[in-house]
Amino acid sequence: MNRGLVGELVGGGELADGWREAFLSTPRHLFVPDVVWDDGDDGVLRASSRAEDPAGWLAAVYGDEAIVTQVDDGAASDDGTGRRVTSSISKPSIVARMLGHLQLEAGMRVLEIGTGTGWNAALLARVAGERNVVSVEVDGGLAERARKALAEAGLSPLVVTGDGAEGHARGAPYDRVIATASAQTVPYSWVAQTRPGGIILAPWGNAYDNGALVRLTVDAHGAAYGPFVDNTVAFMWLRAQRVPRPGPPVDLAGASESSTTLHPDAVAWDDYDARFAVGLRLPDVTVRFADADGDDFAFWASAGTSWACVDVTGGPVHRVRQKGPRSLWTEIEAAHRWWEEKGRPGTGRFGLAVTRDRQYAYLDVPDDPVSRCVSA
Ligand SMILES: C[S@@+](CC[C@H](N)C(=O)[O-])C[C@H]1O[C@@H](n2cnc3c(N)ncnc32)[C@H](O)[C@@H]1O
Repeated sequence: MNRGLVGELVGGGELADGWREAFLSTPRHLFVPDVVWDDGDDGVLRASSRAEDPAGWLAAVYGDEAIVTQVDDGAASDDGTGRRVTSSISKPSIVARMLGHLQLEAGMRVLEIGTGTGWNAALLARVAGERNVVSVEVDGGLAERARKALAEAGLSPLVVTGDGAEGHARGAPYDRVIATASAQTVPYSWVAQTRPGGIILAPWGNAYDNGALVRLTVDAHGAAYGPFVDNTVAFMWLRAQRVPRPGPPVDLAGASESSTTLHPDAVAWDDYDARFAVGLRLPDVTVRFADADGDDFAFWASAGTSWACVDVTGGPVHRVRQKGPRSLWTEIEAAHRWWEEKGRPGTGRFGLAVTRDRQYAYLDVPDDPVSRCVSA
């Protein structure tokens, strides 16, 4: 079955030549726990076990899907349900694509943040050499399980239990850093622990949009710059950078009403480039779709005490309600207009600058910041 999965990845153009042997010799089933979690339509995660459905378990392992391996930081409720995904084995095609972006070569020192099951660490070890790989996992139970799975696969890279936001200074300098948890702010320690010319690859996002992947190259002055190379990856957050997801407000009274012809899908759903760009301008705005009834739905945006709601009920004009110190839908419209005026740039034209004391996104060149600078 592993051969079939690898064949699919190669056929789909996701798996670079240099990684084929690593995937073939690192069967994914060695890393997936017997109990995994399925996402229900009701937002509840339910445990399912290999013993109950061995064929289903194996089909999931060798399908091109992420599998949830931990919920609620390991504290799932006794009835076998969970609320939040806190670890997973990533989707094979995304893993393959990320490893392609990493440009890893034999003998390079590599730091991974987010060991999870250990599968990616194993793949890194196959190419770089196991002594060159350090993987950091914040959850002690997951780290211990990953060490065992790696040993079963015949590999023993260093798996450190700790906060990957601090990197692992003792193993530095690294040629490559790869995060498998998403950052809103790239920890400067990753830059400090990477040699000049080295690459940092990290899922990246904000409250508005969490789907990007940035590839930074560290310069000789302790700064790192580089493009966003994907906007479809969607990783869970680094533990200390989780974004709260407020539900719709309880009290809708007193909102101002207006209308819009801009469809919420165009700014937050099916145009990934637009969604990413609007998110760069409004990184603290959380969005969600709710109350779907056939093609009708409500789009909610919130930040602090401000909220906006757009009701989509068919037709080209949609009702807008906004309340609070900020008019969030008006801000979203302005951010979308800004993106259009720039010629609707694709995500790959944006980049991220990370210096010792600040970081910001830019368009084309680092001297054109398009987002507020964040202190590192
Ligand atoms: C998508 S999973 C990683 C998948 C993993 N690379 C694999 O091959 O199975 C993300 C992991 O990042 C871990 N994580 C989150 N925040 C972290 C942090 N600050 N330091 C280290 N690990 C962290 C989570 O506990 C989770 O196991």
